[in-house]
Amino acid sequence: MPKVIVFGSMNMDLSIDAPRMPAAGETISGSGFLTNAGGKGANQAVASARLGVPTHMIAAVGADSFGGELVAGLEAAGADCSLVRRLEGVPTGVAVIVRTEGENRIVLSAGANHALSADDVVPDLRRIGEKDDVFVTQGECDPTATKAALRAAHGLGLYTVFNPAPARPAPNDLWPCVDLVCLNETECQTMCGVLPEDARTCEEAVRRLRALGAGAVVITLGAAGSFGLGEDGRPTFVPAARAERVVDTTGAGDTYIGALAAGRVRGLTLEASMRWGAAAAAVTVSRLGAQQAIPTAGEVGVAL
Ligand code: RIB
Repeated sequence: MPKVIVFGSMNMDLSIDAPRMPAAGETISGSGFLTNAGGKGANQAVASARLGVPTHMIAAVGADSFGGELVAGLEAAGADCSLVRRLEGVPTGVAVIVRTEGENRIVLSAGANHALSADDVVPDLRRIGEKDDVFVTQGECDPTATKAALRAAHGLGLYTVFNPAPARPAPNDLWPCVDLVCLNETECQTMCGVLPEDARTCEEAVRRLRALGAGAVVITLGAAGSFGLGEDGRPTFVPAARAERVVDTTGAGDTYIGALAAGRVRGLTLEASMRWGAAAAAVTVSRLGAQQAIPTAGEVGVAL
């Protein structure tokens, strides 16, 4: 079976529930504080590994206790961490998350996530990447390294998945190296200037992203589902799967993307992978935290 290779962030998430956002200079009481493994890249790797697909992580953490915990957790989820560096003198990435009324507000400290350069990542990809593997990356690592990695992976014949999160405008010459871009509403607006709100605006956003050079496009619309267009040019809408309850949406988008990548490795169509992503994300939102909330194949009802 081909594998999923993720180049991305690993963060320790410090997450708390607040009744509302405090005003400037105000202190309010929160509840449900937790410290748990996160980072968009590592969350996507966990989702892919828990869905039974061989998954390799390329990343960096600090030589501190958070870094050790993150690597141990990712290995326990089944991902290969032999290309995760533990760097002296640089802290592990941290995300401070305030959960209010079902929404998250996140402040990042990138730390070691910005330490890897193209000279680190590209040789790693050349060493382990094989044609038909799926390469996944996001926007929480050094942008130059991320672009170089996409270019190298594409050149090696890997299927490249780009999740431009957090949203930041991408250089025009990045898009032709992207086989599938998966993005939410705000990321979509930043990338192509269209806020996807209905079928017409989704189609317009997809048209613009493909005009930039992206292959397939998937736009996630939260509780409204997801809209996709594969290389065959066929638009697909997949409704969100019903969650038992919504406890914490952290990592739901990452779960969806990990499932898209895993579905591709398993030879599913884009539509079937989107359905898989929707089912897995519905489980993630029903539980607290990021990686600790991401389901296994069995929990999503998928036979391996
Ligand atoms: O997408 C959710 C993730 O974003 C969190 O786990 C946090 O670490 C930030 O990277």
